[in-house]
Amino acid sequence: MRTLDDLIAEGVEGRTVLVRSDLNVPLDAPPDVPPDAKADGHRRITDDGRIRASVPTISELSGAGAQVIVVAHLGRPKGAPDPALSLAPVAARRGALVGAPVRLAELAKGVPDLAAGDVVLLENIRFDPRETSKNADERAGLARELAALTGPDGAFVSDGFGVVHRKQASVYDVARDIPAYAGGLVLAEVEVLRRLTGPGRPYTVVLGGSKVSDKLAVIEALLPKVDALLVGGGMCFTFLAAQGYGVGGSLLEADRIDTCRTLLESGKIVLPTDIVVADDFSADARTRTVPVDAIPDGWKGLDIGPGSVGAFAEVLAGSATVFWNGPMGVFELAPFAEGTRGVAQAIVDATGAGAPGRRAFSVVGGGDSAAAVRALGLPEDGFSHISTGGGASLEYLEGKSLPGLAVLEQ
Ligand code: 3PG
Repeated sequence: MRTLDDLIAEGVEGRTVLVRSDLNVPLDAPPDVPPDAKADGHRRITDDGRIRASVPTISELSGAGAQVIVVAHLGRPKGAPDPALSLAPVAARRGALVGAPVRLAELAKGVPDLAAGDVVLLENIRFDPRETSKNADERAGLARELAALTGPDGAFVSDGFGVVHRKQASVYDVARDIPAYAGGLVLAEVEVLRRLTGPGRPYTVVLGGSKVSDKLAVIEALLPKVDALLVGGGMCFTFLAAQGYGVGGSLLEADRIDTCRTLLESGKIVLPTDIVVADDFSADARTRTVPVDAIPDGWKGLDIGPGSVGAFAEVLAGSATVFWNGPMGVFELAPFAEGTRGVAQAIVDATGAGAPGRRAFSVVGGGDSAAAVRALGLPEDGFSHISTGGGASLEYLEGKSLPGLAVLEQ
């Protein structure tokens, strides 16, 4: 794999470099504005971790005299411009972080003339339906247009680790058209995740999030490799149902109960022992903490309880390697944040940052769990690594080939 260092060594002064970043940051709810309103400032970025993580590679290239065109996506627009998913707030945030305004350009209207060191951000590439098309010719057409922006001695730097699991025009196809290099962020992420394929033992994985169906493949792939797999979040209720418990009005994927029952036979899956239930999905709902065998009918489980946090913390305290993906509850609402906070704190304690010699090697994988760390005020340096990749890190650990990495290796 050619790397950013190789490209810098070749020399980039006066060359145009296309950088694929993952700037898919969480935004707050769209305000009630007319659909044709200008998008700038209409939505607030709730976690800018991915924007911050994209800065070093872009700055290194621009500092070395390249003209940098950044390409990225935001959300899942339906292949057409959508003001609520404009990258304008991202451009503004990047500008504030680096202390220089960042221009936003539209591919269809052309990129402005750039001088050495200039950085321009292309508007949400998923506004073009060819980006995510299943038709390879359509994607190739868009990839050629992107490559053409860089001129005769252009280059492509793949730095959006969070999106390397997508076979999309600006991730995969463009890397076949012009010389392609792995950016610093992609290299750093891969190095960390590679460590998890031969982890120090005991190896504990903590999984949360809402949909168990999204996680079954990774659970199956991880079970032979881990010593314990702690399950929280909305996905735990299908496992609890598989153990014969009633789950009230909690999230349940009934068609996955049998699969969960089979997975439980491994003896490595640890489930919550108590649950914070609520009579409504809202911050001012009535709440109770109940044992898992006493979830009342009609009440929804929205967080794991303190007993579960204690049991999970005990396993984490004895672990040498920890990987965590997915919140333990609806951490965005204060009454349901303590499970996620408690488990995150237990990982920080197991990591032992600041203590002489770190103990566990801990990796936070995923948009939501990384956002939770920052939203709940936990120290970012309390973990060994906070990945920018959600689906990408899970697919890597599942052992899948990731198109955006495979194409760099070809
Ligand atoms: C992510 O948020 O995991 C990446 O940006 C990929 O986004 P996607 O799941 O919409 O492809």
